[in-house]
Amino acid sequence: AKTFKVAVLPGDGIGPEVMAEALRVLDVVEQKFDVSFQRTFANVGGIAIDKEGKALPETTIDICKDSDAILFGSVGGPKWESLPPDEQPERGALLPLRKIFGLYANLRPAIIFPALTGASSLKQEVIEGGFNVLVVRELTGGIYFSQPKGIEGEGDERVGVDTMRYTVPEIERIAHVAFKAAQKRDRRLCSIDKANVLSTSVLWREVVEKVARQYPDVALSHMYVDNAAMQLVRWPKQFDVLLCENMFGDILSDEAAMLTGSLGMLPSASLAEGSFGMYEPSGGSAPDIAGQGIANPIAQILSASMMLRHSFAMVAAADAIDTAVERVLDQGLRTGDIFQNQPGERKINTREMGDAIVAAI
Ligand code: NAD
Ligand code: IPM
Ligand code: MN
Repeated sequence: AKTFKVAVLPGDGIGPEVMAEALRVLDVVEQKFDVSFQRTFANVGGIAIDKEGKALPETTIDICKDSDAILFGSVGGPKWESLPPDEQPERGALLPLRKIFGLYANLRPAIIFPALTGASSLKQEVIEGGFNVLVVRELTGGIYFSQPKGIEGEGDERVGVDTMRYTVPEIERIAHVAFKAAQKRDRRLCSIDKANVLSTSVLWREVVEKVARQYPDVALSHMYVDNAAMQLVRWPKQFDVLLCENMFGDILSDEAAMLTGSLGMLPSASLAEGSFGMYEPSGGSAPDIAGQGIANPIAQILSASMMLRHSFAMVAAADAIDTAVERVLDQGLRTGDIFQNQPGERKINTREMGDAIVAAI
């Protein structure tokens, strides 16, 4: 059997709870397909601070470097919010991981499952027939990473500084990812920017236009991010692929997730050049429901499916997981976040959702 090495980083809050279910799904994939996943666990985020003194210990980085892919839970929580910002789970671990491994391309597919149209916050006629939006988010540049950054000065004289910076190659490579993704879908790409205000956006638009000449089969449009936020809730079906810089993609992907019923449904793949990637739910550690065993594990399970598809080229196994999720939703099984109290629905917990998906594969 083929063997893949997976670094498993459950993290904080609901991270370990939903990760447990994704790992059980991988167990079944091992039984049904000729493959074995050699898993190495490592601490990341708040738990790593508590156990090893820092959010991203060297041992964790080494384990990731020695792996074919990273399966990531989520990090952060109130317990660590009073630490200096750069030592906190998000800025001390998640962002450095993305940078160290060159994970510049973040794919966030927001798909409404037929059984879940009632869980969307939009009116039925708006989501009738479903929709399928792929957010392609630039993940290692922009305002998240550019210098200067920080708080300068003392007391009331302090100034908070963030810088948004994009180079031409940074825009080009993410644009190529988005155009290639669009070619495999409905061949419509909407590039999101704020070119009426931001210089990075003026350059972004120009570079995306230039890259577009290599993809004449893809229809390119541009939209300001404020309008896009509105258009997503007005008529989401107008979109196929959305190409966004880092922060715009962060915000619009949460919005797109809710249209599908819950943030707990939205997986993501964070890809480097080549086949290496980190796979993480788009949502966070959900401190409001952590420890209760009620989180929706679907985003984590679909993230594992994306790992099989993108890093391991195991298309049939990935399809089997995605179909199993759809079937379980068709059966009316719902974690609390997607439970609408409709006839035919049954409210279940994290473990039971994992059981059902495992059984359906
Ligand atoms: P969040 O995504 O954790 O939660 C937002 C809302 O969505 C909450 O009501 C939560 O209960 C719900 N939710 C999210 N995932 C869910 C799931 N699987 N099942 C059911 N409900 C779910 O965002 P937040 O509250 O703004 O942030 C909490 C912490 O998580 C912060 O420390 C934040 O920095 C961190 N965070 C981490 C990541 C990551 O590690 N990738 C991503 C986002 C936020
Ligand atoms: C996400 C998260 C992260 C981000 C945070 C936790 C740093 O919100 O993955 O969407 O902003 O990228
Ligand atoms: Mn986010």
